[in-house]
Amino acid sequence: MKPAFYVTTPIYYVNDVPHIGHAYTTVAADVLARYKRLMGFDVYFLTGSDEHGQKVEKAAITAGETPLELADRVVKRYQALWERLGISNNDFIRTTQERHKQGVAHIFTEILNRGDIYLGEYEDWYCTPCETFWTETQLIEDRCPDCNRPVEKLKEESYFFRMSKYQEQLLAHIEANPDFIQPKSKRNEIISFIKEGLRDLSVSRTTFTWGIPVPGNEKHVIYVWFDALTNYMTALGYPENTAEFIQFWPASVHLIGKDILRFHAVYWPTFLMAAGLPLPEKVFAHGWWTVEGQKMSKSLQNVVEPNMLIDKYGVDVVRYFLMREVPFGLDGDFSHTALIQRLNSDLANDIGNLLSRSTAMAVKYFDGILPAASQMLEIDSVLKSKTEEMIVAVSRFMDELAFSKALQAIWEVISAGNKYIDDTAPWTLAKDPDQKSRLATVMYCLLESQRIIHCILSAFLPSTTEKALCSLGWNDAASKEGLVWGGLKAGTTIIKAEALFPRYEEKI
Ligand code: MSP
Repeated sequence: MKPAFYVTTPIYYVNDVPHIGHAYTTVAADVLARYKRLMGFDVYFLTGSDEHGQKVEKAAITAGETPLELADRVVKRYQALWERLGISNNDFIRTTQERHKQGVAHIFTEILNRGDIYLGEYEDWYCTPCETFWTETQLIEDRCPDCNRPVEKLKEESYFFRMSKYQEQLLAHIEANPDFIQPKSKRNEIISFIKEGLRDLSVSRTTFTWGIPVPGNEKHVIYVWFDALTNYMTALGYPENTAEFIQFWPASVHLIGKDILRFHAVYWPTFLMAAGLPLPEKVFAHGWWTVEGQKMSKSLQNVVEPNMLIDKYGVDVVRYFLMREVPFGLDGDFSHTALIQRLNSDLANDIGNLLSRSTAMAVKYFDGILPAASQMLEIDSVLKSKTEEMIVAVSRFMDELAFSKALQAIWEVISAGNKYIDDTAPWTLAKDPDQKSRLATVMYCLLESQRIIHCILSAFLPSTTEKALCSLGWNDAASKEGLVWGGLKAGTTIIKAEALFPRYEEKI
Protein backbone atom coordinates (compact mmCIF):
# COMPACT_ATOMS: atom_id res chain seq x y z
CA MET A 1 0.00 0.00 0.00
CA LYS A 2 1.18 3.52 -0.76
CA PRO A 3 2.16 5.66 2.24
CA ALA A 4 -0.48 8.25 3.22
CA PHE A 5 0.01 11.99 3.17
CA TYR A 6 -2.64 14.44 4.36
CA VAL A 7 -2.20 18.16 3.75
CA THR A 8 -4.66 20.92 4.63
CA THR A 9 -5.11 24.66 4.10
CA PRO A 10 -7.01 26.90 6.49
CA ILE A 11 -10.69 27.09 5.67
CA TYR A 12 -11.34 30.60 4.43
CA TYR A 13 -13.91 32.99 5.89
CA VAL A 14 -16.72 33.77 3.50
CA ASN A 15 -17.09 37.38 4.57
CA ASP A 16 -14.24 38.30 2.26
CA VAL A 17 -13.46 37.46 -1.35
CA PRO A 18 -10.24 35.59 -2.15
CA HIS A 19 -7.01 37.53 -2.40
CA ILE A 20 -3.38 36.70 -2.94
CA GLY A 21 -2.88 35.73 0.74
CA HIS A 22 -5.50 33.00 0.44
CA ALA A 23 -4.11 31.88 -2.91
CA TYR A 24 -0.66 31.63 -1.36
CA THR A 25 -1.46 28.89 1.17
CA THR A 26 -3.63 27.04 -1.29
CA VAL A 27 -0.99 27.03 -4.05
CA ALA A 28 1.66 25.89 -1.56
CA ALA A 29 -0.57 23.04 -0.40
CA ASP A 30 -1.25 22.12 -4.01
CA VAL A 31 2.45 22.05 -4.89
CA LEU A 32 3.11 19.82 -1.91
CA ALA A 33 0.17 17.53 -2.71
CA ARG A 34 1.24 17.17 -6.35
CA TYR A 35 4.84 16.56 -5.36
CA LYS A 36 3.90 13.86 -2.86
CA ARG A 37 1.63 12.16 -5.43
CA LEU A 38 4.56 12.23 -7.83
CA MET A 39 6.72 10.56 -5.20
CA GLY A 40 4.23 7.73 -4.83
CA PHE A 41 2.20 8.83 -1.80
CA ASP A 42 -1.52 8.38 -1.46
CA VAL A 43 -2.39 12.04 -0.90
CA TYR A 44 -5.45 13.62 0.60
CA PHE A 45 -5.56 17.38 0.09
CA LEU A 46 -8.27 19.36 1.84
CA THR A 47 -9.39 22.95 1.62
CA GLY A 48 -12.73 24.59 2.36
CA SER A 49 -14.67 27.47 3.84
CA ASP A 50 -15.33 28.74 7.36
CA GLU A 51 -18.91 29.91 7.30
CA HIS A 52 -20.09 30.38 10.90
CA GLY A 53 -19.48 33.08 13.49
CA GLN A 54 -20.35 36.64 14.24
CA LYS A 55 -18.11 38.05 11.53
CA VAL A 56 -20.01 36.22 8.79
CA GLU A 57 -23.35 37.00 10.44
CA LYS A 58 -22.52 40.72 10.49
CA ALA A 59 -21.31 40.70 6.88
CA ALA A 60 -24.56 39.03 5.83
CA ILE A 61 -26.65 41.66 7.60
CA THR A 62 -24.68 44.41 5.87
CA ALA A 63 -25.18 42.69 2.50
CA GLY A 64 -28.91 42.22 3.15
CA GLU A 65 -28.63 38.44 2.91
CA THR A 66 -28.95 35.48 5.22
CA PRO A 67 -25.55 34.13 6.32
CA LEU A 68 -26.10 31.04 4.20
CA GLU A 69 -26.96 33.09 1.11
CA LEU A 70 -23.77 35.06 1.64
CA ALA A 71 -21.77 31.87 2.10
CA ASP A 72 -23.28 30.22 -0.99
CA ARG A 73 -22.38 33.25 -3.07
CA VAL A 74 -18.83 33.78 -1.77
CA VAL A 75 -17.86 30.11 -1.65
CA LYS A 76 -18.36 29.93 -5.41
CA ARG A 77 -15.72 32.62 -5.85
CA TYR A 78 -13.22 30.52 -3.92
CA GLN A 79 -14.09 27.34 -5.77
CA ALA A 80 -13.85 29.07 -9.16
CA LEU A 81 -10.47 30.53 -8.26
CA TRP A 82 -9.10 27.18 -7.11
CA GLU A 83 -10.22 25.68 -10.39
CA ARG A 84 -8.43 28.40 -12.37
CA LEU A 85 -5.30 28.01 -10.26
CA GLY A 86 -5.21 24.30 -11.01
CA ILE A 87 -5.72 23.31 -7.37
CA SER A 88 -5.96 19.53 -7.06
CA ASN A 89 -7.82 19.26 -3.75
CA ASN A 90 -9.56 15.96 -3.01
CA ASP A 91 -12.34 17.59 -1.05
CA PHE A 92 -13.79 20.98 -0.21
CA ILE A 93 -15.42 21.21 3.19
CA ARG A 94 -17.98 23.85 4.13
CA THR A 95 -18.65 24.21 7.84
CA THR A 96 -22.38 24.54 7.15
CA GLN A 97 -22.49 20.99 5.80
CA GLU A 98 -24.32 18.39 7.85
CA ARG A 99 -21.28 16.06 7.96
CA HIS A 100 -19.28 18.82 9.62
CA LYS A 101 -21.94 20.01 12.06
CA GLN A 102 -22.48 16.49 13.35
CA GLY A 103 -18.77 15.92 13.86
CA VAL A 104 -18.35 19.19 15.78
CA ALA A 105 -21.32 18.42 18.03
CA HIS A 106 -19.80 14.99 18.64
CA ILE A 107 -16.33 16.15 19.68
CA PHE A 108 -17.85 18.89 21.87
CA THR A 109 -20.01 16.31 23.68
CA GLU A 110 -17.09 13.91 23.91
CA ILE A 111 -14.88 16.46 25.68
CA LEU A 112 -17.83 17.58 27.87
CA ASN A 113 -18.47 13.97 28.92
CA ARG A 114 -14.80 13.51 29.71
CA GLY A 115 -15.10 16.52 32.05
CA ASP A 116 -12.93 19.01 30.17
CA ILE A 117 -15.74 21.30 29.04
CA TYR A 118 -17.79 22.93 31.82
CA LEU A 119 -20.37 25.71 32.11
CA GLY A 120 -19.21 29.01 33.64
CA GLU A 121 -19.40 32.76 33.20
CA TYR A 122 -17.23 34.96 31.09
CA GLU A 123 -16.31 38.60 31.23
CA ASP A 124 -13.60 40.05 29.09
CA TRP A 125 -12.66 42.24 26.15
CA TYR A 126 -13.80 40.88 22.81
CA CYS A 127 -12.54 41.69 19.34
CA THR A 128 -15.29 40.82 16.87
CA PRO A 129 -13.22 40.88 13.66
CA CYS A 130 -10.74 38.44 15.22
CA GLU A 131 -13.41 36.50 17.12
CA THR A 132 -11.08 36.56 20.11
CA PHE A 133 -11.37 37.43 23.78
CA TRP A 134 -8.50 39.39 25.35
CA THR A 135 -7.60 40.08 28.95
CA GLU A 136 -7.11 43.68 30.08
CA THR A 137 -3.33 43.22 30.11
CA GLN A 138 -3.18 41.82 26.61
CA LEU A 139 -4.79 44.91 25.08
CA ILE A 140 -2.51 47.47 23.49
CA GLU A 141 -3.72 51.01 24.19
CA ASP A 142 -7.19 49.59 24.84
CA ARG A 143 -7.29 47.97 21.41
CA CYS A 144 -6.99 44.47 20.00
CA PRO A 145 -3.31 43.44 20.07
CA ASP A 146 -3.70 41.58 16.77
CA CYS A 147 -5.62 43.98 14.54
CA ASN A 148 -5.55 47.23 16.54
CA ARG A 149 -9.31 47.67 16.29
CA PRO A 150 -11.55 48.70 19.22
CA VAL A 151 -12.70 45.92 21.55
CA GLU A 152 -15.90 45.63 23.60
CA LYS A 153 -16.53 44.32 27.11
CA LEU A 154 -18.62 41.18 27.01
CA LYS A 155 -20.12 39.18 29.85
CA GLU A 156 -21.88 35.96 29.11
CA GLU A 157 -22.63 32.52 30.35
CA SER A 158 -20.20 30.31 28.54
CA TYR A 159 -18.89 26.82 28.23
CA PHE A 160 -15.20 26.60 28.98
CA PHE A 161 -12.59 24.21 27.76
CA ARG A 162 -10.08 23.20 30.44
CA MET A 163 -7.09 24.27 28.38
CA SER A 164 -5.03 25.05 31.48
CA LYS A 165 -5.00 21.36 32.30
CA TYR A 166 -3.03 20.56 29.13
CA GLN A 167 -0.25 23.12 29.48
CA GLU A 168 2.47 20.70 30.55
CA GLN A 169 1.36 17.92 28.23
CA LEU A 170 1.44 20.32 25.28
CA LEU A 171 4.87 21.67 26.20
CA ALA A 172 6.17 18.13 26.55
CA HIS A 173 4.78 17.26 23.14
CA ILE A 174 6.42 20.29 21.53
CA GLU A 175 9.73 19.48 23.22
CA ALA A 176 9.59 15.85 22.15
CA ASN A 177 8.66 16.72 18.55
CA PRO A 178 10.99 19.46 17.33
CA ASP A 179 9.30 19.55 13.91
CA PHE A 180 5.76 19.85 15.24
CA ILE A 181 5.69 23.64 14.91
CA GLN A 182 7.62 25.27 12.08
CA PRO A 183 9.45 27.46 11.33
CA LYS A 184 11.65 27.43 14.43
CA SER A 185 11.15 31.11 15.26
CA LYS A 186 7.41 30.54 15.43
CA ARG A 187 7.90 27.44 17.55
CA ASN A 188 9.81 29.52 20.07
CA GLU A 189 7.03 32.13 20.16
CA ILE A 190 4.47 29.42 20.92
CA ILE A 191 6.64 27.91 23.65
CA SER A 192 6.93 31.30 25.36
CA PHE A 193 3.21 31.87 25.01
CA ILE A 194 2.41 28.53 26.66
CA LYS A 195 4.95 29.13 29.43
CA GLU A 196 3.16 32.37 30.32
CA GLY A 197 0.29 30.10 31.36
CA LEU A 198 -2.73 28.73 29.54
CA ARG A 199 -6.14 29.89 30.71
CA ASP A 200 -9.32 27.94 30.22
CA LEU A 201 -10.91 28.89 26.93
CA SER A 202 -14.43 30.06 26.32
CA VAL A 203 -15.86 27.73 23.67
CA SER A 204 -19.45 28.91 23.33
CA ARG A 205 -21.32 32.16 22.69
CA THR A 206 -24.83 33.35 23.50
CA THR A 207 -24.68 36.79 21.88
CA PHE A 208 -25.48 35.61 18.36
CA THR A 209 -26.97 32.54 16.74
CA TRP A 210 -25.04 31.85 13.51
CA GLY A 211 -23.17 28.74 14.49
CA ILE A 212 -23.49 25.13 15.56
CA PRO A 213 -25.71 24.85 18.66
CA VAL A 214 -24.24 23.31 21.80
CA PRO A 215 -25.91 19.89 22.00
CA GLY A 216 -28.55 20.00 24.73
CA ASN A 217 -28.24 23.76 25.42
CA GLU A 218 -29.21 25.47 22.25
CA LYS A 219 -29.03 29.04 23.42
CA HIS A 220 -25.27 28.60 23.05
CA VAL A 221 -23.48 28.28 19.74
CA ILE A 222 -20.08 26.63 19.61
CA TYR A 223 -17.10 29.04 19.36
CA VAL A 224 -16.19 29.49 15.72
CA TRP A 225 -12.58 28.32 16.14
CA PHE A 226 -13.66 25.13 17.92
CA ASP A 227 -16.04 24.59 15.02
CA ALA A 228 -13.55 25.51 12.29
CA LEU A 229 -10.52 23.52 13.48
CA THR A 230 -12.56 20.34 13.61
CA ASN A 231 -12.99 20.52 9.81
CA TYR A 232 -9.67 18.75 9.42
CA MET A 233 -11.26 15.60 10.84
CA THR A 234 -14.92 15.92 9.83
CA ALA A 235 -13.89 16.04 6.17
CA LEU A 236 -12.45 12.55 6.63
CA GLY A 237 -15.69 11.30 8.15
CA TYR A 238 -15.02 11.81 11.88
CA PRO A 239 -16.57 10.64 14.22
CA GLU A 240 -17.17 7.58 12.07
CA ASN A 241 -14.18 5.31 11.64
CA THR A 242 -14.30 5.69 7.88
CA ALA A 243 -11.56 4.29 5.66
CA GLU A 244 -10.38 7.87 5.03
CA PHE A 245 -10.25 8.75 8.70
CA ILE A 246 -8.26 5.64 9.49
CA GLN A 247 -5.90 6.15 6.59
CA PHE A 248 -5.30 9.90 6.80
CA TRP A 249 -5.71 11.04 10.41
CA PRO A 250 -3.53 12.47 11.94
CA ALA A 251 -2.74 15.05 9.26
CA SER A 252 0.82 15.16 7.92
CA VAL A 253 0.82 18.93 7.83
CA HIS A 254 -1.52 21.87 8.39
CA LEU A 255 -0.35 24.80 6.27
CA ILE A 256 -1.47 28.12 7.71
CA GLY A 257 -0.55 31.81 7.90
CA LYS A 258 1.38 33.08 10.91
CA ASP A 259 -1.63 35.00 12.28
CA ILE A 260 -3.53 31.81 13.04
CA LEU A 261 -0.70 29.78 14.50
CA ARG A 262 -1.88 29.99 18.10
CA PHE A 263 -5.22 28.43 17.19
CA HIS A 264 -3.46 25.58 15.41
CA ALA A 265 -0.51 25.03 17.74
CA VAL A 266 -2.20 25.57 21.11
CA TYR A 267 -6.01 25.30 20.90
CA TRP A 268 -6.26 22.51 18.35
CA PRO A 269 -3.74 20.10 19.92
CA THR A 270 -5.25 20.55 23.37
CA PHE A 271 -8.77 19.89 22.02
CA LEU A 272 -7.44 16.71 20.49
CA MET A 273 -5.65 15.67 23.68
CA ALA A 274 -8.88 16.16 25.60
CA ALA A 275 -10.78 14.05 23.07
CA GLY A 276 -8.10 11.34 23.21
CA LEU A 277 -7.16 11.74 19.54
CA PRO A 278 -3.74 11.85 17.87
CA LEU A 279 -2.24 15.25 17.04
CA PRO A 280 -1.27 16.44 13.56
CA GLU A 281 2.36 15.77 12.73
CA LYS A 282 3.24 19.30 11.73
CA VAL A 283 1.87 22.83 11.71
CA PHE A 284 3.73 25.16 9.37
CA ALA A 285 3.09 28.91 9.55
CA HIS A 286 4.03 30.95 6.51
CA GLY A 287 4.58 34.69 6.44
CA TRP A 288 2.42 37.49 5.17
CA TRP A 289 2.47 39.36 1.90
CA THR A 290 2.58 43.10 1.81
CA VAL A 291 1.84 44.91 -1.43
CA GLU A 292 4.39 47.33 -2.85
CA GLY A 293 5.68 47.70 0.73
CA GLN A 294 2.31 48.30 2.36
CA LYS A 295 -0.06 46.15 4.38
CA MET A 296 -2.77 44.75 2.11
CA SER A 297 -6.16 46.07 3.12
CA LYS A 298 -9.53 47.01 1.71
CA SER A 299 -9.23 50.53 3.06
CA LEU A 300 -5.92 51.08 1.27
CA GLN A 301 -7.57 49.64 -1.86
CA ASN A 302 -4.45 47.63 -2.60
CA VAL A 303 -5.87 44.12 -2.31
CA VAL A 304 -4.26 41.93 -4.95
CA GLU A 305 -6.89 39.90 -6.73
CA PRO A 306 -5.52 36.58 -8.03
CA ASN A 307 -7.93 36.46 -10.98
CA MET A 308 -6.57 39.75 -12.25
CA LEU A 309 -3.02 38.37 -12.02
CA ILE A 310 -3.97 35.22 -13.89
CA ASP A 311 -5.64 37.26 -16.65
CA LYS A 312 -2.61 39.44 -16.99
CA TYR A 313 0.28 37.00 -16.62
CA GLY A 314 -1.06 33.44 -16.77
CA VAL A 315 -1.73 30.88 -14.09
CA ASP A 316 1.68 29.19 -13.88
CA VAL A 317 3.44 32.54 -13.72
CA VAL A 318 1.42 33.40 -10.63
CA ARG A 319 2.09 30.00 -9.07
CA TYR A 320 5.79 30.30 -9.83
CA PHE A 321 6.08 33.80 -8.42
CA LEU A 322 4.32 32.90 -5.17
CA MET A 323 6.53 29.87 -4.59
CA ARG A 324 9.82 31.35 -5.80
CA GLU A 325 9.89 34.93 -4.63
CA VAL A 326 9.81 34.46 -0.85
CA PRO A 327 11.23 31.66 1.32
CA PHE A 328 8.23 29.86 2.80
CA GLY A 329 7.94 30.97 6.42
CA LEU A 330 9.13 34.56 5.88
CA ASP A 331 7.15 37.69 5.04
CA GLY A 332 7.36 38.96 1.51
CA ASP A 333 6.39 41.81 -0.71
CA PHE A 334 4.28 41.60 -3.82
CA SER A 335 5.03 43.96 -6.68
CA HIS A 336 4.23 43.81 -10.37
CA THR A 337 7.81 44.77 -11.14
CA ALA A 338 9.17 41.78 -9.23
CA LEU A 339 6.68 39.46 -10.88
CA ILE A 340 7.48 40.71 -14.40
CA GLN A 341 11.18 40.34 -13.64
CA ARG A 342 10.66 36.69 -12.65
CA LEU A 343 8.52 36.08 -15.71
CA ASN A 344 10.91 37.60 -18.22
CA SER A 345 14.07 36.23 -16.72
CA ASP A 346 13.43 32.86 -15.01
CA LEU A 347 10.50 31.76 -17.13
CA ALA A 348 10.73 33.30 -20.60
CA ASN A 349 14.53 33.46 -20.82
CA ASP A 350 15.77 30.49 -18.84
CA ILE A 351 13.32 27.63 -19.01
CA GLY A 352 11.26 28.76 -22.01
CA ASN A 353 14.24 29.47 -24.25
CA LEU A 354 16.00 26.29 -23.28
CA LEU A 355 13.07 24.20 -24.43
CA SER A 356 12.40 26.09 -27.65
CA ARG A 357 16.08 26.14 -28.63
CA SER A 358 16.56 22.43 -27.97
CA THR A 359 13.36 21.18 -29.57
CA ALA A 360 13.99 23.42 -32.60
CA MET A 361 17.44 21.83 -33.01
CA ALA A 362 16.02 18.31 -32.68
CA VAL A 363 13.60 19.14 -35.49
CA LYS A 364 16.25 20.78 -37.63
CA TYR A 365 19.04 18.23 -37.24
CA PHE A 366 17.08 14.98 -36.75
CA ASP A 367 13.68 15.72 -38.35
CA GLY A 368 12.13 15.63 -34.87
CA ILE A 369 13.09 11.98 -34.27
CA LEU A 370 15.05 11.59 -31.05
CA PRO A 371 18.41 9.97 -31.79
CA ALA A 372 20.08 7.46 -29.48
CA ALA A 373 22.94 8.65 -27.30
CA SER A 374 26.23 6.95 -27.98
CA GLN A 375 29.44 7.54 -26.06
CA MET A 376 28.98 10.05 -23.22
CA LEU A 377 31.80 12.54 -22.73
CA GLU A 378 32.52 14.20 -19.42
CA ILE A 379 30.46 17.27 -20.26
CA ASP A 380 27.44 15.00 -20.89
CA SER A 381 27.93 13.04 -17.68
CA VAL A 382 28.14 16.29 -15.74
CA LEU A 383 24.73 17.39 -17.08
CA LYS A 384 23.32 13.96 -16.26
CA SER A 385 24.64 13.95 -12.72
CA LYS A 386 23.53 17.55 -12.11
CA THR A 387 20.03 16.49 -13.15
CA GLU A 388 20.12 13.46 -10.87
CA GLU A 389 21.53 15.38 -7.91
CA MET A 390 18.83 17.99 -8.35
CA ILE A 391 16.12 15.35 -7.79
CA VAL A 392 17.75 14.46 -4.47
CA ALA A 393 18.12 18.11 -3.45
CA VAL A 394 14.51 18.89 -4.34
CA SER A 395 13.36 15.97 -2.23
CA ARG A 396 15.25 17.34 0.78
CA PHE A 397 13.93 20.87 0.27
CA MET A 398 10.36 19.69 -0.19
CA ASP A 399 10.59 17.80 3.10
CA GLU A 400 11.50 21.12 4.71
CA LEU A 401 8.74 22.91 2.76
CA ALA A 402 11.49 25.09 1.30
CA PHE A 403 9.67 25.60 -2.00
CA SER A 404 11.83 28.47 -3.09
CA LYS A 405 15.04 26.50 -2.57
CA ALA A 406 13.59 23.56 -4.48
CA LEU A 407 12.91 25.86 -7.43
CA GLN A 408 16.38 27.33 -7.16
CA ALA A 409 17.86 23.83 -7.36
CA ILE A 410 15.80 23.11 -10.48
CA TRP A 411 16.88 26.41 -12.03
CA GLU A 412 20.52 25.56 -11.52
CA VAL A 413 20.06 22.62 -13.87
CA ILE A 414 18.15 24.82 -16.32
CA SER A 415 21.11 27.22 -16.38
CA ALA A 416 23.43 24.25 -16.76
CA GLY A 417 21.36 23.16 -19.77
CA ASN A 418 21.65 26.56 -21.42
CA LYS A 419 25.38 26.58 -20.78
CA TYR A 420 25.66 23.04 -22.13
CA ILE A 421 24.23 24.24 -25.45
CA ASP A 422 26.73 27.07 -25.63
CA ASP A 423 29.63 24.77 -24.71
CA THR A 424 28.75 21.90 -27.03
CA ALA A 425 27.69 24.25 -29.88
CA PRO A 426 25.41 21.79 -31.70
CA TRP A 427 25.26 24.15 -34.73
CA THR A 428 28.99 23.58 -35.27
CA LEU A 429 28.69 19.81 -34.83
CA ALA A 430 25.83 19.84 -37.37
CA LYS A 431 28.12 21.18 -40.07
CA ASP A 432 30.39 18.13 -39.87
CA PRO A 433 28.87 14.78 -40.99
CA ASP A 434 31.53 12.93 -38.97
CA GLN A 435 30.11 14.48 -35.80
CA LYS A 436 26.60 13.11 -36.37
CA SER A 437 26.80 10.65 -33.50
CA ARG A 438 28.33 13.25 -31.17
CA LEU A 439 25.47 15.58 -32.08
CA ALA A 440 23.00 12.78 -31.34
CA THR A 441 24.43 12.31 -27.85
CA VAL A 442 24.28 16.04 -27.16
CA MET A 443 20.67 16.28 -28.31
CA TYR A 444 19.70 13.25 -26.26
CA CYS A 445 21.27 14.58 -23.05
CA LEU A 446 19.77 18.01 -23.56
CA LEU A 447 16.24 16.73 -24.07
CA GLU A 448 16.42 14.02 -21.42
CA SER A 449 17.59 16.48 -18.79
CA GLN A 450 14.65 18.72 -19.61
CA ARG A 451 12.19 15.87 -19.54
CA ILE A 452 13.20 15.20 -15.94
CA ILE A 453 13.10 18.91 -15.12
CA HIS A 454 9.55 19.21 -16.45
CA CYS A 455 8.43 16.04 -14.68
CA ILE A 456 9.50 17.34 -11.30
CA LEU A 457 8.31 20.86 -12.09
CA SER A 458 4.84 19.52 -12.82
CA ALA A 459 4.14 19.92 -9.10
CA PHE A 460 4.71 23.67 -9.41
CA LEU A 461 3.64 24.47 -12.97
CA PRO A 462 1.12 21.80 -13.94
CA SER A 463 -0.26 23.31 -17.12
CA THR A 464 2.98 24.52 -18.73
CA THR A 465 4.92 21.37 -17.96
CA GLU A 466 2.18 19.31 -19.56
CA LYS A 467 2.76 21.23 -22.82
CA ALA A 468 6.53 20.93 -22.47
CA LEU A 469 6.40 17.18 -21.83
CA CYS A 470 4.13 16.77 -24.81
CA SER A 471 6.66 18.43 -27.13
CA LEU A 472 9.33 16.16 -25.62
CA GLY A 473 7.22 13.16 -26.59
CA TRP A 474 6.60 12.17 -22.97
CA ASN A 475 2.93 11.47 -22.49
CA ASP A 476 3.01 9.41 -19.30
CA ALA A 477 1.49 11.03 -16.26
CA ALA A 478 4.35 12.40 -14.20
CA SER A 479 5.53 9.67 -11.86
CA LYS A 480 8.50 8.80 -9.70
CA GLU A 481 9.71 6.33 -12.32
CA GLY A 482 9.78 9.20 -14.81
CA LEU A 483 12.44 10.96 -12.74
CA VAL A 484 15.09 8.42 -13.72
CA TRP A 485 17.62 9.22 -16.47
CA GLY A 486 17.06 7.22 -19.63
CA GLY A 487 13.28 7.47 -19.83
CA LEU A 488 13.18 8.99 -23.31
CA LYS A 489 13.59 6.34 -25.97
CA ALA A 490 15.35 6.84 -29.28
CA GLY A 491 12.78 7.22 -32.04
CA THR A 492 10.45 9.39 -29.95
CA THR A 493 8.89 12.26 -31.89
CA ILE A 494 10.00 15.68 -30.68
CA ILE A 495 7.87 18.67 -31.59
CA LYS A 496 9.21 22.21 -31.73
CA ALA A 497 7.87 23.90 -28.58
CA GLU A 498 6.09 27.22 -28.77
CA ALA A 499 7.30 29.84 -26.28
CA LEU A 500 6.18 28.43 -22.93
CA PHE A 501 6.17 31.86 -21.32
CA PRO A 502 5.90 34.84 -23.65
CA ARG A 503 7.85 37.81 -22.35
CA TYR A 504 5.77 40.49 -20.74
CA GLU A 505 6.37 43.92 -22.17
CA GLU A 506 4.73 46.72 -20.21
CA LYS A 507 2.34 48.58 -22.49
CA ILE A 508 2.94 52.25 -22.02
N1 MSP B 1 -11.21 30.98 8.92
C1 MSP B 1 -9.93 31.17 9.50
C2 MSP B 1 -9.11 29.90 9.41
C3 MSP B 1 -9.70 28.71 10.05
S1 MSP B 1 -8.72 27.31 9.83
C4 MSP B 1 -9.40 26.13 10.81
C5 MSP B 1 -9.20 32.31 8.79
N2 MSP B 1 -9.64 32.61 7.59
S2 MSP B 1 -9.09 33.83 6.69
O1 MSP B 1 -9.84 33.74 5.48
O2 MSP B 1 -9.17 35.06 7.41
O3 MSP B 1 -7.58 33.62 6.47
C6 MSP B 1 -7.08 32.48 5.92
C7 MSP B 1 -5.61 32.52 5.68
O4 MSP B 1 -5.22 33.59 4.83
C8 MSP B 1 -4.77 32.65 6.94
O5 MSP B 1 -3.84 31.58 6.98
C9 MSP B 1 -4.02 33.95 6.75
O6 MSP B 1 -2.73 33.88 7.26
C10 MSP B 1 -3.99 34.06 5.25
N3 MSP B 1 -3.75 35.43 4.85
C11 MSP B 1 -4.60 36.50 4.94
N4 MSP B 1 -3.93 37.61 4.50
C12 MSP B 1 -2.67 37.29 4.13
C13 MSP B 1 -1.58 37.97 3.57
N5 MSP B 1 -1.61 39.26 3.34
N6 MSP B 1 -0.47 37.24 3.25
C14 MSP B 1 -0.41 35.88 3.43
N7 MSP B 1 -1.42 35.21 3.96
C15 MSP B 1 -2.52 35.90 4.41
O7 MSP B 1 -8.29 32.86 9.37
